[in-house]
Amino acid sequence: MIYANYAATSPALTPSVAAELRGYLDGIHLNAGRNFEGLPEVAAALRARRAVGQLFGIANPLRVIFTSGATAALNMAINGLVTHGCHVLATSVEHNAAARPLHALQKEGIIDLEYLRCAPDGSLEPETVRKAVKKNTRLLVMTHASNVLGTILPVTECFKTAREFGIFTILDTAQTAGILPLSMEADCDVIAFAGHKGLGALAGIGGFALSERAAREMRQWMRGGTGSASDSLEMPDFLPDKFEPGTQNTFGIISLAASVEEILRTGVKAIRERERALTARFIEGLTERKNITPCGTLNADRSMALVSIVVRGQDAGDVSRRLFDEHGIITRSGLHCSPAAHKTAGTFPAGTVRFSFGRGTTEAEIDAILKALEEL
Ligand SMILES: Cc1ncc(COP(=O)(O)O)c(C=O)c1O
Repeated sequence: MIYANYAATSPALTPSVAAELRGYLDGIHLNAGRNFEGLPEVAAALRARRAVGQLFGIANPLRVIFTSGATAALNMAINGLVTHGCHVLATSVEHNAAARPLHALQKEGIIDLEYLRCAPDGSLEPETVRKAVKKNTRLLVMTHASNVLGTILPVTECFKTAREFGIFTILDTAQTAGILPLSMEADCDVIAFAGHKGLGALAGIGGFALSERAAREMRQWMRGGTGSASDSLEMPDFLPDKFEPGTQNTFGIISLAASVEEILRTGVKAIRERERALTARFIEGLTERKNITPCGTLNADRSMALVSIVVRGQDAGDVSRRLFDEHGIITRSGLHCSPAAHKTAGTFPAGTVRFSFGRGTTEAEIDAILKALEEL
């Protein structure tokens, strides 16, 4: 079996992350963030906040908030930052995790939504942001890299422009966290992340990191018990409780602490370089195949370890199935929860077959996939 679907989820925990979780399974399950300091669960929550903060260049670990994943984080941040009648910018390659909440707000007449048009390869001219800014632009939502095209967006430049105009910024790092170096303390208001992809933690844990300004001004989208300030019907105004109602996912938080610490030990730069080299090898092999049209920039320096292809005259779902049935290769076909990206690339509604690589991928696997593609 060759797993080439890392963009959807990491297939396995590393041995050290699994060992930590096994230790926790044998113990008593308490409630991270709600009990006395010194308990392993409380310590794990702080460890995870510290590790994620370090990964994103966020100095104060309390500005790292846990949710069930990037989808919940994006919903909380988008709904918490918009105001009635405001203008919102987003790119034309957003995942539905951002596109659907934005669409709903537009449909309800709450926001005026405008998409920044990316090129068919998924790239975006940073100047597009400046040209689109209006007097009432309040929010810019951007994915760090397209989950369909792999293309890395120029978030630093775009967010600098947004900051000039006082616009709030939300970055979706579901595809890049733990793989692409990122230090956004100065320019980004909300960094949404998913635990189960590049971060190598369990599914069901994710969150967002907040700027001081967003921590102050963002409204809660979800409210409930926090185990603190319980005499009041208002949510506490201190972090992380302000944005963490309900019982937390301790098991997920422990997996996140262990996995992000491991990433920090390995170094994000080293992880990125390894995946970049694998992508370059794959792209080079693909361009030799006449019946295959690869999407994206076809430049590993500008892309994540993710390449979508169209096989001439063949249905994407059929190709994916054949790759699995005949070669044991696991890919993902269709629209990948991002119809917008497919419309941008010109592959809507047929979709593509997506190959995505990660920490377990080897050069031999890349070569085996290329060989399998020869037979299509
Ligand atoms: C770009 C992007 N954003 C958001 C998500 C949603 O992440 P989660 O599964 O953590 O909610 C994904 C997952 O596929 C994604 O690729």
